[in-house]
Amino acid sequence: MLNYTVRKFDAVIVGAGGAGLRAAIQLSEAGFKTAVLTKVFPTRSHTVAAQGGVAASLGNSEEDHWHWHMYDTVKGSDWLGDQDAIEFMCRKANECVIELEHYGMPFDRLDNGRIYQRPFGGHMSNFGEKPVRRSCAAADRTGHAMLHAMYQRNVKVNTQFFVEWQALDLVRDADGDVLGVTAMDMETGEIVVFHAKATIFATGGAGRIFYSSTNAFINTGDGLGMAARAGIPLEDMEFWQFHPTGVAGAGVLITEGVRGEGGILRNSAGERFMERYAPNAKDLASRDVVSRAMVTEINEGRGCGPNKDFVLLDITHLDPATILKRLPGIREIGIQFAGVDCIKEPLPVVPTCHYQMGGIPTNYRGEVVVPKDGDPNAVVRGFYAAGECACASVHGANRLGTNSLLDLLVFGKSAGETAVENLKAGNKAHKDLPQESIDRTLARVNRLNTQTGGANVHETRLAMQRTMQAHCGVFRFKDMLEQGVAKILDVQEQVRRTEIKDKSQVFNTARIEALELDNLIEVAVATMVSAEARKESRGAHVRDDAPDTAERPNGRDDQNWLKHTLWYREGNRLDYKPVNLKPMSVETIALKKRAY
Ligand code: FUM
Repeated sequence: MLNYTVRKFDAVIVGAGGAGLRAAIQLSEAGFKTAVLTKVFPTRSHTVAAQGGVAASLGNSEEDHWHWHMYDTVKGSDWLGDQDAIEFMCRKANECVIELEHYGMPFDRLDNGRIYQRPFGGHMSNFGEKPVRRSCAAADRTGHAMLHAMYQRNVKVNTQFFVEWQALDLVRDADGDVLGVTAMDMETGEIVVFHAKATIFATGGAGRIFYSSTNAFINTGDGLGMAARAGIPLEDMEFWQFHPTGVAGAGVLITEGVRGEGGILRNSAGERFMERYAPNAKDLASRDVVSRAMVTEINEGRGCGPNKDFVLLDITHLDPATILKRLPGIREIGIQFAGVDCIKEPLPVVPTCHYQMGGIPTNYRGEVVVPKDGDPNAVVRGFYAAGECACASVHGANRLGTNSLLDLLVFGKSAGETAVENLKAGNKAHKDLPQESIDRTLARVNRLNTQTGGANVHETRLAMQRTMQAHCGVFRFKDMLEQGVAKILDVQEQVRRTEIKDKSQVFNTARIEALELDNLIEVAVATMVSAEARKESRGAHVRDDAPDTAERPNGRDDQNWLKHTLWYREGNRLDYKPVNLKPMSVETIALKKRAY
């Protein structure tokens, strides 16, 4: 068996993107010995790719209110979001953005010195009346600026970073308590058990289960895979967001902020087609609506280019000075990835996988919750999650743009605060480590190190990505979903037999890719199985056999399907739990047909 050492911390955080860094600030500032494990240098985490801004009803340019923000988020979620968590997030937004400003975040400014805000899809004033400027932006590099501000704050408060470490598995004992993680130093292959009283997952998303994605290569669902292997269910995994504007052929993100600044989507006839699909919000309708409109235009023969397989995002009517000031990164991306200078020509764009709405189930305090003894939301002691890997659930069936950066700030902070509270109240000593849990990880790594004659990692990952892309995309079809389940279970079998070719090298990216694939496949199976099972259309999950009718607005079946999915790895089993329709202090936002 492999060797390992043990290191003790009060708290271990896996992931150094926005949520991990925000949680770490809370713990380190409170004086707790905190380790952050990360696959890449913190400021290269995927939060760096967030472009257009962070939502908060500061009202710097026009009147705004957290309650309007809450309404938009519930409506955007197609009523699948938990209204207590949504109220919590929207109320906390202003405080979290101002805190960030005080950490040194270089937001763009209005002439009066206040933070610059731009409109984004689905964010409206006065309960859905007209688009409102709610997204607080640092040009089109908001995530980049945010990571730098929070990394520096962490350096100030002595957070310990373990850079280029791959987390392997949760350490969970017979009581179900979480006592840390096992992890591998990617450079040396050394395995360490990080023994902690609080373990926070902030591992980001798993967009790499799809072939075409705006996600970084590091977004391999590590937290979700580890949670699933430890018996934690994954919530609402059928809901994936396809961002309307990925660069055609490359998948790189073109921020929705482009449309916020006045950009227009056009088909091959030059028509502003969103006027037909969303007469009020037009190009600033929510993402699921815009992505479906684009795919419909393409499928009906109104796409652009020789293969009629993309539409155009036009900002040639904007003042070049505005583009250079507010969207400098987008101009660079257009030139580099599409060979198009957006000042002079429109950009070719297609919907591209961008964000997972589901994840590890948590409450609004960041605690991981799993049904137990009749309680659908029983807390797993010692375990917290925040950011894209978690499902609080504030995004429900469809997330609004710029609510992702808000989610990671609010729930990163909240998870950190709750961990601090529990650490102060709890036992001073660490619980004993459960050997069995550690041995399972060592056996998995050992299998990878020694297996021969198995499937090739790269080819197996490609088979998974192609299956997800073809069978679980923007529009979903009953027969394709059924076939997709069979195919993805087949790929899962291959993953269990993958072989890394060059076993001699310690610094071996193939080994890391194989470990990542172990996580990706859990997410892919959870997604396909949950999607096949949900026999309605809601938000980003739209099926051909659940059309929009008078009895079922938007294809929703609130009678039978207003509930969260829980996928358990063991037995590939599904369960469900109720949506929380009760906010904390205001009235329930009542169900109705969703239109923009
Ligand atoms: O379009 C964007 O800038 C992406 C923002 C988001 O996903 O929230």
